[in-house]
Amino acid sequence: MRKLFFLLTLLIPRALYAADGSELWLRYKPVDAEVAQRRTIRLQVNNEIAQLAKKELDSYWSGSPVELRLDRSVKRLKEGYQIKRRGSDLLVTAAKPVGLLYAAYHLLRLQEVGADVQNIDIEEVPDFDIRILNHWDNLDGTVERGYAGYSLWKWDDLPKKISPRYERYARANASIGINATVLNNVNASPQILTPDYLEKVKALADVFRKYGIRVYLSANFSSPKVLGGLADSDPLRKEVKAWWIAKVDEIYKHIPDFGGFLVKANSEGQPGPQDYGRTHADGANMLADALKPYGGTVMWRAFVYNPTQEDRAKQAYQEFVPLDGKFRENVIIQIKNGPIDFQPREPFTPVFGAMDKTQQMVEFQITQEYLGFSNHLVYLAPLFKETLDAETFSRGPGSTVARITTSSAGGSKKTAISAVSNIGEDDSWTGHHFGQANWYAFGRLAWNHQLTSEDIAEEWICQTFTGATAFREPVRQMMMDSREAVVDYMMPLGLHHIFAFDHHYGPEPWGDMEGGRPDWMPWYYHNADTTGIGFNRTKSGSNAVSQYKEPLQTAYGNLTTCPENLLLYFHHVSWSHTMKSGRSLWDELCFRYDRGVKEVREFQKTWDRLESYVDQQRFEEVQSKLKIQTRDAVWWKDACLLYFQIFAKMPIPYELERPI
Ligand code: GCU
Repeated sequence: MRKLFFLLTLLIPRALYAADGSELWLRYKPVDAEVAQRRTIRLQVNNEIAQLAKKELDSYWSGSPVELRLDRSVKRLKEGYQIKRRGSDLLVTAAKPVGLLYAAYHLLRLQEVGADVQNIDIEEVPDFDIRILNHWDNLDGTVERGYAGYSLWKWDDLPKKISPRYERYARANASIGINATVLNNVNASPQILTPDYLEKVKALADVFRKYGIRVYLSANFSSPKVLGGLADSDPLRKEVKAWWIAKVDEIYKHIPDFGGFLVKANSEGQPGPQDYGRTHADGANMLADALKPYGGTVMWRAFVYNPTQEDRAKQAYQEFVPLDGKFRENVIIQIKNGPIDFQPREPFTPVFGAMDKTQQMVEFQITQEYLGFSNHLVYLAPLFKETLDAETFSRGPGSTVARITTSSAGGSKKTAISAVSNIGEDDSWTGHHFGQANWYAFGRLAWNHQLTSEDIAEEWICQTFTGATAFREPVRQMMMDSREAVVDYMMPLGLHHIFAFDHHYGPEPWGDMEGGRPDWMPWYYHNADTTGIGFNRTKSGSNAVSQYKEPLQTAYGNLTTCPENLLLYFHHVSWSHTMKSGRSLWDELCFRYDRGVKEVREFQKTWDRLESYVDQQRFEEVQSKLKIQTRDAVWWKDACLLYFQIFAKMPIPYELERPI
């Protein structure tokens, strides 16, 4: 009878989980009464976050008894924790309550992946102080570049009505160590700083606080003028400074642990200090001064470019590097991973490592603006790691982007890492079930950038689907192959930004708009003509290559040493140029596009074989997205090859699939 009951408990919890993916990777099985009775979770402190750690373990941890201990003297732990075995118990020590919560999720993760905790002895400390999501959510409920439905934040219902999803969102983030969130779009409406909206923001902050998550806001630089009725928003004007000081004061009255501001200034039409002949430093410092008494931070974006530039890739460096040393301690320059804009592949932005006296942080994009929206399966951990592991040579070998951004540029500066979220109100949260893996991977890498993409994928698969080897291994392989596949079928060999105008979904390499901004036209980026294809960024071209430190400058600048996966990013190359494979550039391009299509067809076969391991709903939803992805891959291949062939004037090799 008891055995039967046990078997039933194994079955029942599965039914508790919705097959729509809404449980994310948090599909923990509640412990049964018998287990709960024999193992205790002890906690000495009376603190809301610590209580939550206990509650999670009480509900889901079926291993040995656990003692949760707070020891504020172990300062090096910051938000981290130690887990050790002490006799038959597990002893968890943290310096802050949130460390206990992270430790609880660590234990649950180990349980879900079936790890042996018998001799556990670990110490974990996060690599970055601030691990932050950027929501590009508008106040009308739409999400810029969001492909998972409307915004999670129900601004009209707030502050009175609190959706249960807010807490689930916070829990999911805490489970992977994310400790901060920017609620609104970088193209910020000034309205977010009105008293009404601050009440709403406060309501969200109150929910997130017990999961260790701080709220930040995107600020519109013109707010003093628009909201305060001042003549302008000149950062050096007394009245403007006073307006911000009062506003910040008002915010902290509502939200005592408010994180600070994210600012997009003088970029894509947004207002900024340059409107008044001031610099980015003038603007950022004014806000930083207002935030300083409360410990707040300014994340000032370096995403700037304008149509008069001969090469958009150069502008961030030109505007920001001369300002090195001029920013306040509590300013961090937030830099997109690549110089253009979240392309399938770009080199790292050369601003990293070029500002020794200024704190810098990476901005990744989890939402797949340039990667097939929520229709394509693209696992982004390898892309994130490519940037984090990129060698800048700025302080000699070993100066990777990760090292530069994890080490404080002196003083008491905070380190940070950010990513644009892919979360919306869709049942699956992210539109594609595998989009969840990218949210997960960002959190895990923000905690520990040395984790491997494979290990993160494994963890996610085991928790989200099943740990069965026959499922886990092929799915992990599919995820690992997916980033190179999308590069192949969209933009191989360093091609970039040849998307259809504005929506950035399909191909439009022929795109050219009479009178339109040249730097928004695909032709600007690929430069295909009868002599060849690619953007010449060497000395004989825009010389963007000179922004990289040696030996990169020489390596990228030389046709023979430039890595082939960035070739057309740095060089305009003749169609008949011989590639490492022995093929001509044209043949290689054809081969890569074709390979991309084949890879996605393999993903379909892989997934189809795994039907018996997945609930029907998620199986079918992923299956139908893979069909769209394959169709799109063929579209990309045919469109790009047929267009480029006009210039190359060479046949598509006969062993490859013919365009439809
Ligand atoms: C891209 C994106 C915009 C966004 C901008 C930014 O250009 O297409 O929607 O506002 O990046 O990062 O500011």
